Amino acid sequence: MPIPAPVLYPPFNVIRLSHITLAVTDLAASRAFYADMLGLQVTDETDGALYLRAMEERGHHCVVLEKADAGVARALSFKVFSEADLDKAKAYFDGENIRNHWVERPFQGRTLRAVDPLGMPVEFYFEMVRLPSIHQQYGLYHGVKPLRIDHFNCFSDDMEASVGFYNELGFRVTEYTESEDRTRNWAVWMHRKGGVHDLAFTSGAGPRLHHFAFWVPTPLNIIDLLDLMATTGYLSNIERGPGRHGISNAFFLYIRDPDGHRIEIYCSDYMTVDPDHEPIRWDLRDPQRQTLWGAPAPRSWFEEGSVFDGVAPRKPKLEASPIIAP
Ligand SMILES: [Fe+2]
Repeated sequence: MPIPAPVLYPPFNVIRLSHITLAVTDLAASRAFYADMLGLQVTDETDGALYLRAMEERGHHCVVLEKADAGVARALSFKVFSEADLDKAKAYFDGENIRNHWVERPFQGRTLRAVDPLGMPVEFYFEMVRLPSIHQQYGLYHGVKPLRIDHFNCFSDDMEASVGFYNELGFRVTEYTESEDRTRNWAVWMHRKGGVHDLAFTSGAGPRLHHFAFWVPTPLNIIDLLDLMATTGYLSNIERGPGRHGISNAFFLYIRDPDGHRIEIYCSDYMTVDPDHEPIRWDLRDPQRQTLWGAPAPRSWFEEGSVFDGVAPRKPKLEASPIIAP
């Protein structure tokens, strides 16, 4: 299936993904997982919410955890280039009949919440409380030494609709996997910030969050994390990896938080800022697509994900057969 031509002058300027808001059932368990074990820094804490940032980040938060009765995903958030881009976003969504409204978010300026055509809640803002740099305070580093949030990956039940919508917002395709008959796309990776992706889509019951990812300094930090998790009560939270992806060429590990939200630990993809950067095509039956070393992913990786709050997933339009570990 052809991928759409890039939109190099989009209606408003998204510069990167920024943060994720998740509902969790036990804030203390989540704090132990994200802060004490994984190594994120707590930037604010209330009875109902926990705000976290990674070591390179100057913005107040890259993860917001909110106490709730069920572990669901509540918003995927993106930073835009200026306040004026928020007004352009509002005008664009209004013109396209995309549901949107202004919302209040702690530690942020004006924030526009929209619902994409498949039902994913996305938020856009420019201003966030800025914090002092800590990237050279090595005494604070622990866990996997997370440097920054890197990307979101979501299940979509309609790949063409998802890719078409974000393509119009200026997200550019870097890699894609075609179905066996080469008529449809099974997965697509799209970026704004100049890496392999800010946002990726995988065919499946959707919309759902598949995972979000943190960039870490080296593959060795991932090995250290595995040793840590395996000996501190988190063995069953390890889902897939470590390995090197074919797609993105990144070194990876997938883990699950106490509510089952999937997190990828991610290291080293490549630069994609050229406006004429050529996307890379993969075949669904190529085992090196998932893992360059050939190991297939487990069934859970293809089937399980976090629902978005109040959004019922639909059956995917595309039924396909990725290689799954026996
Ligand atoms: Fe990923």
